[in-house]
Amino acid sequence: MSDAVEEIKNKIDIVDIIGAHVNLKKAGSNYKGLCPFHQEKTPSFMVSPELQIYKCFGCGEAGDVFTFLEKYEGLEFREALEILAEKAGVKLERRNIGQKSKKERSIEINTLAARLYHYLLLKHSAGREALEYATKIRGLKSATLTAFEIGFAPERSGILIKQLKKKKVSETELLEAGLVYKTRYGPVERFRGRLIFPLKDHRGRTLALAGRILPQYDKPNIGKYINSPETPSYHKSEVVYGLDIAKSEIKKLNQIVIVEGELDLLTPWQIGVRNIVAIKGTAFTDSQIRLLSRFSKNWVMALDSDFAGDKAAVSAIQLALNMGISVKVARLGKYKDPDDFAKAEPEKFKKAILKAQDAWDFLFEQVFSRYDLKTGSGKAAISREVTPLLSAIDDSIVQDHYVKKIATKLEVSEEAVRQKLTNPKKEIASELVDIEKAEDVRLSLEKRLISVSLQKNPRYLLDEEVRKLFIKPFTKKLLAKLSSFLASQEFDPQAFLRSLPPELATGFTEIYLQEEEGEGGNRALDIERELAKITLRLKIMNIHEQMEALTHKMKLAEKKKDESLLIKYEEEFATLSKKRSEIEGT
Ligand code: CTP
Ligand code: MN
Repeated sequence: MSDAVEEIKNKIDIVDIIGAHVNLKKAGSNYKGLCPFHQEKTPSFMVSPELQIYKCFGCGEAGDVFTFLEKYEGLEFREALEILAEKAGVKLERRNIGQKSKKERSIEINTLAARLYHYLLLKHSAGREALEYATKIRGLKSATLTAFEIGFAPERSGILIKQLKKKKVSETELLEAGLVYKTRYGPVERFRGRLIFPLKDHRGRTLALAGRILPQYDKPNIGKYINSPETPSYHKSEVVYGLDIAKSEIKKLNQIVIVEGELDLLTPWQIGVRNIVAIKGTAFTDSQIRLLSRFSKNWVMALDSDFAGDKAAVSAIQLALNMGISVKVARLGKYKDPDDFAKAEPEKFKKAILKAQDAWDFLFEQVFSRYDLKTGSGKAAISREVTPLLSAIDDSIVQDHYVKKIATKLEVSEEAVRQKLTNPKKEIASELVDIEKAEDVRLSLEKRLISVSLQKNPRYLLDEEVRKLFIKPFTKKLLAKLSSFLASQEFDPQAFLRSLPPELATGFTEIYLQEEEGEGGNRALDIERELAKITLRLKIMNIHEQMEALTHKMKLAEKKKDESLLIKYEEEFATLSKKRSEIEGT
């Protein structure tokens, strides 16, 4: 295993792999960009081509090219290994690949099931009624059925179990893949009498299925739509329907149209709106938001017309807005959902997408439309509902804009509106960080001295005078390692990292990945000057600390009335003080 991993790492550049997903800019010998694992406005995500690792100084995510793909694409190690092996042109042997994981097996089985159901819909007599429903009633064209691999699961259970048995899929495996469930009478297929929509990930792998009941089998006590349960391959909260097909168009247009249901996606898709995905209901999750924001940060929501009353939908929109995503809302007018709208008036639907309104405007307008502005009680109700919305706006400029707008509409002063806002003090958190930072100024100075020296001249750190500047246990240990490393060879970050014990390795990586910029952010850092500056600050700091310790000792000596000791300390103090002014004068 590790042979293949090493070979791949040697042939592949982490900067290329990460650079395909994250916009990276050169920063000294490293690259930096906006972290894909948390939301941030200034880059703290660093990638080192020399060490072939990445680290985010904001959220702490760190690792190599394998962990990056695992986390970013939601892959397992084996999957990342296979993808990278292919890219690197490295042949994997069986023993490298090992056992298939439960997730991969579940995908395999769901893929087979989707294929069977698709065949039954298009080619088999059992699918005739379903095909009629899909094409005549729902208006789906055969190209659409093919593109989305739509299928049909017959009303009577049995065919899936039988056909997949031929492909060496056991009933237990069908159970684990979510396609079958146990009853007193034996295993029963989950999807029956339904149109089938394979739920794929953005890479087009079939993770699970969804099914809509055919009208002739509809009963009051069964769900119109059902989905696979959670399985090793399917986590409902992470999947966005249609992303595999829409992603290239989304990137081209830099816009995503988001709808609720499968058919709300398919009908617009047929009239040419191809940058469209479905979230399957209104419970838009954090991971779905993150996933989509990777493809574009310009969204148009075309949710069912009753969504404004839906708390889950509204809070998801707020979340996305506060993540810096531009969210707009398309008006559906008299139509219930995008499916109805796009079918009845295709051109008007496209216009509604173009004319989509800013989401905050939309959310506020919804509130205003529900009450009578002319009455006192109406105003009170509006104010009550508008306040939490306003408080939810993170960006103070945007918040201010709406405070003004709402004050005008309610005919009250801006102050009156502002007073009601709950102002969670976000600054407190960052103040705490500052205090911690201040306490560790010394440690960060020591680290920075190492970081800058490593770029300029690692042997600088071997100088006796320089080594005396370090007093933190971590940096001292690291320097000891460095000096024995440099005794026999030139500095090579990768080899040095390999020589370190784990407790020093992480710290070293961090130091090595530190942004190589001067204070104040001047890009072209004069390393020489920076080195001198840090050294100087550390020297002064050392003298300060010695002077403080002396002051303490002098107080004790005074108490004990030990004159001779006191004189000695005073002399030492004077020497230090002189040294300090010399240094400060340079
Ligand atoms: N949904 C779901 N699970 C449910 C109910 C709904 O996943 N138990 C998702 C489906 O993707 C569905 C979407 O939510 O397409 C919208 O549901 P609903 O409003 O009930 O769909 P309708 O538009 O009424 O369905 P149709 O047009 O097929 O009659
Ligand atoms: Mn519908």
